[in-house]
Amino acid sequence: MLASHVARQRLEPEFQISAIVSDPQKVVIDWLDGHQSTFHTLWLRDNCSCDECGDHSGGQRFFELNMLPEHLANRALIADTMLRIEWTVDGHITTYDPAWLRSHCHYEHKKRRVNPTLWDASITNHIPEADYAVAINDQHELLKVFDAVRSHGLCLLKNGPVKPEATEDIAAHLSFIRETHYGRIFEIISTPNPTLIANAPVPLRPHTDENFREPPPGIMIFHSIQASEDGGGESVMTDGFKLAADFKRQHPKDYQLLTTVPIPHRRFIQGVGLRAEAPMISLDYFGNIVEFRLNERTMGPLDLPADQIEPVYAALAKMYELSYDSKYHMKYLLKGGEILVFDNARVLHARTGFNGNRHVRLTHVGSDEFFSRWRQLRHDLHGDINLA
Ligand SMILES: [Fe+2]
Repeated sequence: MLASHVARQRLEPEFQISAIVSDPQKVVIDWLDGHQSTFHTLWLRDNCSCDECGDHSGGQRFFELNMLPEHLANRALIADTMLRIEWTVDGHITTYDPAWLRSHCHYEHKKRRVNPTLWDASITNHIPEADYAVAINDQHELLKVFDAVRSHGLCLLKNGPVKPEATEDIAAHLSFIRETHYGRIFEIISTPNPTLIANAPVPLRPHTDENFREPPPGIMIFHSIQASEDGGGESVMTDGFKLAADFKRQHPKDYQLLTTVPIPHRRFIQGVGLRAEAPMISLDYFGNIVEFRLNERTMGPLDLPADQIEPVYAALAKMYELSYDSKYHMKYLLKGGEILVFDNARVLHARTGFNGNRHVRLTHVGSDEFFSRWRQLRHDLHGDINLA
């Protein structure tokens, strides 16, 4: 961590230890801001990152769980603002940075984990945005793109160039392009007799892309080269996490089904035989929504016991209906040069019909590298650690 961030954090009450109490099972820390954290001694001993035990964050680990003594008696004290523990069985000493401890407080796990800002059609007049030319030269502006995708699932990059090379330029700033059988870039150009529906000037229903891949495309990048002259071909974006949250309140039993039942998607065309299945809504251990997959056009035959067919179809129909409700739809006509970056694991895309000439370049980049760069930038520019 940068020294200036460490110094700043040490001054904040949130990161200052006011008192500690310990026993063989736990260490209880009172913080200056009034919060209290409880850390299990087993967890604390395991997370010693001294030279002897190894720095786990870099994959180095010399301490192994079978080395744990039976009793974790300890002497814990505050030394130079740090928590210092002497493990009395073998005299081993561990020192913990208070900022690191606070960011790992078990009580605050939900705050650290996915904490999305849910939105609906009302976001239309304040779409999260950044400036393309600034973002590719300035890390603070680039971080705005990552932050917006993290919080809202999407970011609009304005004032970008119409030159085709800009698609790969911005992709390289965000992550690595994931190549598929379409190649690195998919050209969405209106043609009279298209073989793919994406190239036809027809409206498309909200969907997430390519759920027949595992994993599906991560972060999508739409780079507009030319907007349709007739004003059609608007991008229609929907927050899948908002849909799921509302659906949970309205139809709790159906929600339970859609978070557990695998829904297959497949694409069998010349030279391609892709198939994958997952629940429409994926949850983490704490019940947070972490992934949303919806695409009526690519859904395959349900592979379920007969008694599940009716309830699952009923639940799916309700969710499709909800996703087609315009109160959830943010509409925006991408001008030439503008770029829309969004998380395909959360945000559904669609478009209105059009009759003019329209050209959008589409590519997608890996989520793992994308969020890796987000964590690095948050760390380098703001000193954040342990971002989930
Ligand atoms: Fe699509």
